Amino acid sequence: VIAASVEDICALYETWGAEHYDEELSQLAHALQTAALAEQAGSADALVVAALLHDVGHLLEVQATRRSEPASGVDRRHETTGARYLSGLFGAEVTGPITLHVAAKRYLCAIDAAYHDTLSEGSRRSLERQGGPMAPDEVAAFEQEPGFEDAVALRRWDDLGKVDGLAVASLDCHRARLRRVSSA
Ligand SMILES: [Fe+2]
Repeated sequence: VIAASVEDICALYETWGAEHYDEELSQLAHALQTAALAEQAGSADALVVAALLHDVGHLLEVQATRRSEPASGVDRRHETTGARYLSGLFGAEVTGPITLHVAAKRYLCAIDAAYHDTLSEGSRRSLERQGGPMAPDEVAAFEQEPGFEDAVALRRWDDLGKVDGLAVASLDCHRARLRRVSSA
């Protein structure tokens, strides 16, 4: 599936955003908190958009499940599904960090011993499924990826954007930015 418009993307979050992300947190709250952290860091619009939409693949999975559609493709990796969905509207400065945000967790676990302990329960559980910490050759290869720094920054906001009940800007506050950054 490829998104046809910014409105489609917003509708996806409006329809399925109440689904749980982790423990008590909803998908929409997690997306908005991650975007708010990117914004507070003074990030470019494209990186704020990447932060907002980094888990869009999870929403697509929820939608497919609820509509009892077959899972989109053999590969159920949400970072790839999400980046593909956005690729018709956004360039690599948005889709790149999204594609790499799971690898960035494996990267951080490899280069920063303290990082693993800061992960949430759910994130620690999924790490093993995702391949565990990167091996040294994977670390070196990851650092060659264009925009890997953005992916690492996004990853850190992702990990912090899990505060139950935190008040942040609404989805509507991001619409103008989404239109600005999108090519449609
Ligand atoms: Fe996330």
